[in-house]
Amino acid sequence: MKNIPVIMIIFGGSGDLAHRKLYPSLFNLYEQGLIHDNFAVIGTARRPWSHEYLREQVSDAIHETHDQVDENEVKAFASHFYYQSHDVTNVEHYVTLKKLAQELDDRYSAQGNRLFYMAMAPRFFGTIATHINDQHLTGSGFNRIVVEKPFGHDLASAEQLNKEITASFDENDIFRIDHYLGKEMIQNIMPMRFTNPLIKNIWSGEYIKNIQITLAERLGVEARGGYYDTSGALRDMVQNHIFQIITLLAMPEPKDLSSDSVHQAKQELLKSLIIPTPEEVEKNFVRGQYLGSDTTFAYKKEPNVDPDSTTETYVAGKTKFTSGPIAGVPIYFRTGKEFKEKKTRIDIVLKHINNPYGQAHSNNITIEVDPESKIYITINGKKIDEPGIRREDLTYVFSKEEMAKVPDGYERLLHDVFVNDSTNFTHWSELKRYWEFIDAVEDAWQKENEAGNPEIAQYLPYRMGPKEADNIFESPTEHWIYE
Ligand code: BG6
Repeated sequence: MKNIPVIMIIFGGSGDLAHRKLYPSLFNLYEQGLIHDNFAVIGTARRPWSHEYLREQVSDAIHETHDQVDENEVKAFASHFYYQSHDVTNVEHYVTLKKLAQELDDRYSAQGNRLFYMAMAPRFFGTIATHINDQHLTGSGFNRIVVEKPFGHDLASAEQLNKEITASFDENDIFRIDHYLGKEMIQNIMPMRFTNPLIKNIWSGEYIKNIQITLAERLGVEARGGYYDTSGALRDMVQNHIFQIITLLAMPEPKDLSSDSVHQAKQELLKSLIIPTPEEVEKNFVRGQYLGSDTTFAYKKEPNVDPDSTTETYVAGKTKFTSGPIAGVPIYFRTGKEFKEKKTRIDIVLKHINNPYGQAHSNNITIEVDPESKIYITINGKKIDEPGIRREDLTYVFSKEEMAKVPDGYERLLHDVFVNDSTNFTHWSELKRYWEFIDAVEDAWQKENEAGNPEIAQYLPYRMGPKEADNIFESPTEHWIYE
């Protein structure tokens, strides 16, 4: 693998994301030789850490995530890390940062390449982008920026943030990260759809009755009440992860696998995304909040959550496109905290056909993304010892050995940033369209809130969410496949 020279600056270098995901992933890329001799990482945050202390943290992060490591390798890797105490609102601090980056660039022959990573509270993204620009932090080689979610709070704030970032970076150099796009089974959607005649040929409204997407989580909001109460499930999960999954399922076949062609196919589809009216929001969407149990708090009693909060910890909804291979097919989705289990799955429900046996089940194709990687197709066959039809699953489960080979989503996506492949990142035009949809739903909810008595279902924790979500289907013959 090619050694890519670069100085990487992580805003949020003392944070949880850097510790749990970025440092271990960078180490793996280092071991593979992608970044090796000519790189340095500057971790920044407000705390007054030393270079040495950051290196200890990096080393701890690697030990926590790897069973066996070569201590010399860890030491050599950590020696590439530098710490700069930094207040993102203080212009002077960017001058110091720029100087350090330049010094390290000379020392490591990084060829003027810079990679900026925004891994801190999103309210600072705009300020950082502005000062990268006005203090000229970009280098003379390539300049790329990775932006964590949420990218904005609504369309207007996303547009503002985008403006601040594009002052220094071209769209091609902005990597809006969505960790779902780094997951094995999400990356498997395109090959599954486009290489199997069995699947490709039935991918239309003629055969598909509906598609169902579930992102269920066992955990509640935990320590993130403060952030979550300003976000809610729609912004936290639907605006990004669920919409990217929907797009991969509904887009036309790209002309080739280049990043441009994939994004073009997505954009073509998204033009035909139907934005719901307030009446459609009322009819097709359900929002909910989890109640408490003997041992857990109700959402409204969680720390840092407004006791009168109208923020949803659960949402179910429906969407459709007017063009693309599955134009007109209803796509139902739901996500929530405190479900009975952690499960991410996609169910493609096929239509029934007339047959001489009478009753038969529909064929469903299920893609399980988490916790297991698994694909199964339900088929009908004869019963052995009595007349009639029985249902069987054709299942492909990834083996333990295969799972062990799957890199963490962050490692994959960081690799893509280094090699400049933005296929699995969110393009601005996609993000904009997602926000248009989300804003329409949020506006309708806001009006309901203002009118008093908004319908926010209170659901029991560790079950399947509010039963009201059973009523969003278009026809009485439809229901959630995963129950
Ligand atoms: C994040 C959300 O983007 O995704 C979290 O902010 C959520 O609220 C998480 O818990 C879920 O990710 P995963 O990979 O565990 O399904």
